[in-house]
Amino acid sequence: MRLLHLLTLASTTLATTLPLTRRTPTSSTTSPLKATEYGTIFDVPVTIGNQTFQLLVDTGSSDTYVVQTGFTCIDEDTNSTIPQAECLYSNHTYNPDYSDTYRRVEDQYFGIKYGAGIASGDLAYETVSLGGLTVKNQKVGIAHRTNPMGDGVNSGLLGLAYPSITSAHPGNASSSDNSTYFFNRKVYNPLLYNMHQQGVLKEPYFSLALASTPQNESTTFGGYLSLGELPPVKHSDQWATVPVEIYRTIPVEFTSGNRTRFWWTTTVQSVRYGSKSANKDNSTAFQTFVDSGNNFSYLPAAVVDSVNALFDPPARFDDSSKLYVVDCNAKAPVFGLQLGNQTFYHNPADLIQKVDNDLCVSSLAASEDARVGDITVSILGVSFLKSVVAVFDFGKDEMRFAKRLN
Ligand SMILES: *[C@@H]1O[C@H](CO)[C@@H](O)[C@H](O)[C@H]1NC(C)=O
Ligand SMILES: *[C@@H]1O[C@H](CO)[C@@H](O)[C@H](O)[C@H]1NC(C)=O
Ligand SMILES: *[C@@H]1O[C@H](CO)[C@@H](O)[C@H](O)[C@H]1NC(C)=O
Ligand SMILES: *[C@@H]1O[C@H](CO)[C@@H](O)[C@H](O)[C@H]1NC(C)=O
Ligand SMILES: *[C@@H]1O[C@H](CO)[C@@H](O)[C@H](O)[C@H]1NC(C)=O
Ligand SMILES: *[C@@H]1O[C@H](CO)[C@@H](O)[C@H](O)[C@H]1NC(C)=O
Ligand SMILES: *[C@@H]1O[C@H](CO)[C@@H](O)[C@H](O)[C@H]1NC(C)=O
Ligand SMILES: *[C@@H]1O[C@H](CO)[C@@H](O)[C@H](O)[C@H]1NC(C)=O
Ligand SMILES: *[C@@H]1O[C@H](CO)[C@@H](O)[C@H](O)[C@H]1NC(C)=O
Ligand SMILES: *[C@@H]1O[C@H](CO)[C@@H](O)[C@H](O)[C@H]1NC(C)=O
Repeated sequence: MRLLHLLTLASTTLATTLPLTRRTPTSSTTSPLKATEYGTIFDVPVTIGNQTFQLLVDTGSSDTYVVQTGFTCIDEDTNSTIPQAECLYSNHTYNPDYSDTYRRVEDQYFGIKYGAGIASGDLAYETVSLGGLTVKNQKVGIAHRTNPMGDGVNSGLLGLAYPSITSAHPGNASSSDNSTYFFNRKVYNPLLYNMHQQGVLKEPYFSLALASTPQNESTTFGGYLSLGELPPVKHSDQWATVPVEIYRTIPVEFTSGNRTRFWWTTTVQSVRYGSKSANKDNSTAFQTFVDSGNNFSYLPAAVVDSVNALFDPPARFDDSSKLYVVDCNAKAPVFGLQLGNQTFYHNPADLIQKVDNDLCVSSLAASEDARVGDITVSILGVSFLKSVVAVFDFGKDEMRFAKRLN
């Protein structure tokens, strides 16, 4: 029901956003996404037990979690309990009492720290469906305590990265220390891994085509997530293929001492930019990871300073937010990233992100201001994903990118 309703909604905006091919999404594993917060967050419908929720699509983490009915909302700065509504999740929350398939994992708990905050609670086995595919006994986090991380629409998050950063831990959540969630993991198979192992997902990959959203629309059609197939959008047939790498600067303790893949990491070979054409380049390569759960791309400050200076009028660095404020009607520069054998240019409009009524920021921020623990990281966020079809292949441990065609 929910899927069909969303598809109907989607088709009215398709002409201006993503042209459809002849494929019929209803017979496939493709889910339409909802873009919220002015095209910075992308949600997908997921069924847990017999309850359906919108979950944030996150290639930057590996757990699926949902907030439990009656959860405690915690202010991130003071750690005091605040009203549930301030956590900004949907009012539709998960109640284990309404599920015959819920089974608590006895000796483990769920605890995770994201860039946006902390969530913790029980770990449970549940029946989970996404894109028409269903698996039983999937481990999911049932969050009792969380910082504000909702968007008014979602009730949690769908993690699409590697098993090694799943966030089950031995013991009991109520006596846990939430400053140690990066460590001491009890690794399990995330949803898509389980779908593949149980033979439900035939091909071990998923793909994303995020929609470029109109600047003034807070909630709108957000593109597609497809499982084991390509999303129904037009794209070049030239694919750039890159291996998934281990992010070198992240200490091995982050993956419980094992040197193994965890994020969708790769190397940007060079960047090209200019005010009218890509007449400047910087061929200092750097590692980065592709994160559909991040509204900003965090790149080396030298690159970001140069590109943000080329908006017309130029973007201004705001020291308190560490973001570059830009006129909502500014003309954005040309900006491309080389991955494998191709350079992928952003749609200029996607470089300007609306925050509030008359306030816009550049979607490019400095890596030096993005941290995991004490480590500086580079991230390719949603503005990059809006101009490509991205394939995340955990069978071949590679990513493939193709330019979108309009
Ligand atoms: C809140 O909790 C976090 C995580 O444990 C901790 O790092 C921080 O210092 C606490 N803040 C306050 C104000 O107690
Ligand atoms: C889910 O299943 C439970 C137990 O069978 C039932 O009581 C409940 O009404 C169902 N909820 C929905 C939304 O179907
Ligand atoms: C994290 O731990 C601190 C210190 O124990 C606590 O005050 C805070 O509520 C916790 N935060 C969350 C989101 O559970
Ligand atoms: C949740 O319910 C409260 C009270 O009914 C309402 O004020 C709020 O807008 C609702 N939030 C959402 C995200 O629907
Ligand atoms: C977890 O620990 C708390 C307090 O230490 C205790 O009250 C609770 O029963 C424990 N829960 C489980 C499931 O062991
Ligand atoms: C956004 O702008 C477009 C074109 O100017 C207009 O048609 C649409 O109604 C606007 N939407 C909102 C929510 O203001
Ligand atoms: C580390 O590797 C060992 C042996 O391959 C494996 O049993 C264990 O689950 C791995 N741990 C993590 C956190 O990946
Ligand atoms: C190119 O980028 C690197 C960081 O990746 C920076 O150190 C260097 O200064 C930049 N070069 C130019 C000419 O901007
Ligand atoms: C890029 O490399 C792929 C093989 O990885 C090849 O199929 C493709 O034709 C190349 N594209 C260009 C533009 O060179
Ligand atoms: C973008 O992300 C930051 C940090 O995660 C968050 O605080 C902010 O609200 C987001 N901005 C928008 C416009 O959604």
